[in-house]
Amino acid sequence: MSQTIYCIRTPRLIVRCWEPADAPSLREAKNTSKEHLLPWLPWALEEPTDLATNLALIRGWRAQFDTDQDYVYGIFDRADGRVLGGAGMHVRIGKRAREIGYWVRADAINRGYATETAAALTRIGFEIMGLERIEIHCDVRNVRSAAVPARLGFVHEANLRRRAISADAPADSMIWTMFADEYPGSPVARVTIEAFDVLGDRVAAAAG
Ligand SMILES: CC(C)(COP(=O)(O)OP(=O)(O)OC[C@H]1O[C@@H](n2cnc3c(N)ncnc32)[C@H](O)[C@@H]1OP(=O)(O)O)[C@@H](O)C(=O)NCCC(=O)NCCS
Repeated sequence: MSQTIYCIRTPRLIVRCWEPADAPSLREAKNTSKEHLLPWLPWALEEPTDLATNLALIRGWRAQFDTDQDYVYGIFDRADGRVLGGAGMHVRIGKRAREIGYWVRADAINRGYATETAAALTRIGFEIMGLERIEIHCDVRNVRSAAVPARLGFVHEANLRRRAISADAPADSMIWTMFADEYPGSPVARVTIEAFDVLGDRVAAAAG
């Protein structure tokens, strides 16, 4: 059985693989967050997008997820199921390594949801997927994004020149890194999660 994690429960969130039925909620979350996302995520230029576009997006993410090509998750409020944002465990940085990305809808920032999501993904990365390295990349000007890995104990390893994907002129990209042997003593290891596989069976229950 694959150890692909389809769903993670944290104290306040459900971080799970997108489903086609999420398309209207994803659309609403992105469309109402355009100005907030635009400086850092070029795809926000396309907003507002219609339902068919969001459905196609989710089907594409889902196809990649189900075939272990890449892992894009939705972030949902555990209490009411509302879409709070999105995240990724991207495979593009090499074997036994993942790059975590995230965005939170404009009216849900400043509550710790991005940090809780990144912590949950980091936990499954090291505890279940057996990764050696997890990275978070962000534009050097994106102070709120850089605060997430800093809070979790990632190390600011380097700035890569003109490598940020931000929507306007090229900027330098910060690389934040955590290795497997740094994880047990980090703040990440204190975040409580439950993780579930594709069948909905619980894979891990870790107390904070
Ligand atoms: C980057 C982004 C996800 C960060 O969002 P954020 O709200 O700053 O980060 P968090 O969700 O982790 O929230 C942290 C804040 O919540 C506060 N907070 C409030 N209640 C909290 C709680 N119960 N638990 C934890 N933190 C809480 C923290 O103190 C912190 O505030 P501070 O920075 O003033 O100390 C968000 O700004 C975003 O979506 N930006 C646009 C897209 C983007 O840039 N993505 C990243 C591309 S690299």
